[in-house]
Amino acid sequence: MTMLQDRLAQLQQAVAEREAQQLMRQPVTVEHYNGRLITIDGQPFLNFSGNDYLGLATAPEVLQAYADGALKLGAGSSGSPMVTGQHAIHRQLTETLSDWLGVERVLLFSSGFAANQAMLHTLAVKQDTLLLDKLSHASLIDGALHSDARMKRFAHNNMSALARLLEQEPQSMVVTEGVFSMDGDCPDLAALRSLCLQHQVPLLLDDAHGLGVKGSEGQGSGPAQGVANSELFCLMANFGKALGVAGAFLGASKTVIDYIEQFGRHYIYSTALSPATCAAVLKSIDLCRKQHWRRDKLYNNIKKFRILAADLPIMNSDTAIQGMVLGSSEQAVNASKQLKKAGIWATAIRPPTVPAGSARLRITLSSQHSDEDIALLVQQLRLLLL
Ligand SMILES: Cc1ncc(COP(=O)(O)O)c(C=O)c1O
Repeated sequence: MTMLQDRLAQLQQAVAEREAQQLMRQPVTVEHYNGRLITIDGQPFLNFSGNDYLGLATAPEVLQAYADGALKLGAGSSGSPMVTGQHAIHRQLTETLSDWLGVERVLLFSSGFAANQAMLHTLAVKQDTLLLDKLSHASLIDGALHSDARMKRFAHNNMSALARLLEQEPQSMVVTEGVFSMDGDCPDLAALRSLCLQHQVPLLLDDAHGLGVKGSEGQGSGPAQGVANSELFCLMANFGKALGVAGAFLGASKTVIDYIEQFGRHYIYSTALSPATCAAVLKSIDLCRKQHWRRDKLYNNIKKFRILAADLPIMNSDTAIQGMVLGSSEQAVNASKQLKKAGIWATAIRPPTVPAGSARLRITLSSQHSDEDIALLVQQLRLLLL
């Protein structure tokens, strides 16, 4: 066998092992999407798997803004923001974000993954220890691993575990999420802020699942818990979840953002967001701030679901992300298949995305679900467990 053949054989073996462990990931192709319903292989399903929590991905005003933005401003930005990729609409979007979220400056990124990489890779120095919540998203873990700093993880949402680490590691940065993507639970941000202040260390927050849905005008998890976004050392959130579009940003003080603008390689060496996308995000923010009914409906749906499913093994979450841990990957995959037969799409989440033995159904609720949709979901979940 040549070295090249050997390399290919290794790749094949890794995929075969994954298959044998029932851990193969297979993207599905959605043929039609309207938020509440998705069509896959010609069959419509009630969608309980997306992150379009407020139904903004198909709001007619957002679609119109996208189309107008493309016609007037272009489908692509044509370059890095440092060359000719920053257009007037990018400035408008960063200023709108600063105003909405109460942060001094904002930088735009093409994805939350890139923004998290930039945040940790650029801000952490060699002498730092990055202290990450155990359940942090892969983009934060990779950002920390690629930085010059050391990484340590604290038990999920556990303030005493973090306090102990802070005693041992005086030069650290604390990194957590506003709403955890697989469990749907939230840290006590006021307690975290106090702990970080006490130790004089920066607090960095990924609020991918909090922006838009938390806070009176959707300003996110911090404001919803009485912590101003300006009290964070750096905030990351993206536009592809509750805002229903794509892209992301980092928001912080002028000093922090000026630094990332100069030294953040993910920002400098990457094509800026498309102007059409910026136009759509601006419209989405506008609707998100004004149309309180979207959040009200979402929270009513969450409440309804939790009342109906109170006797089922659902995780403790008051957010749009509701998990039902089933144990093995096989059990989670079978449950997801059974639900599909009843016309319900709820994705099975397996290791390594979640810890071994905690494979689950990740159910996400949106403002677009009706009472009947939720009742049907709970009825089918109950059948699964009988
Ligand atoms: C908590 C969290 N952070 C970051 C990301 C990455 O964001 P994006 O999908 O915009 O790359 C995601 C979602 O994929 C996420 O759930």
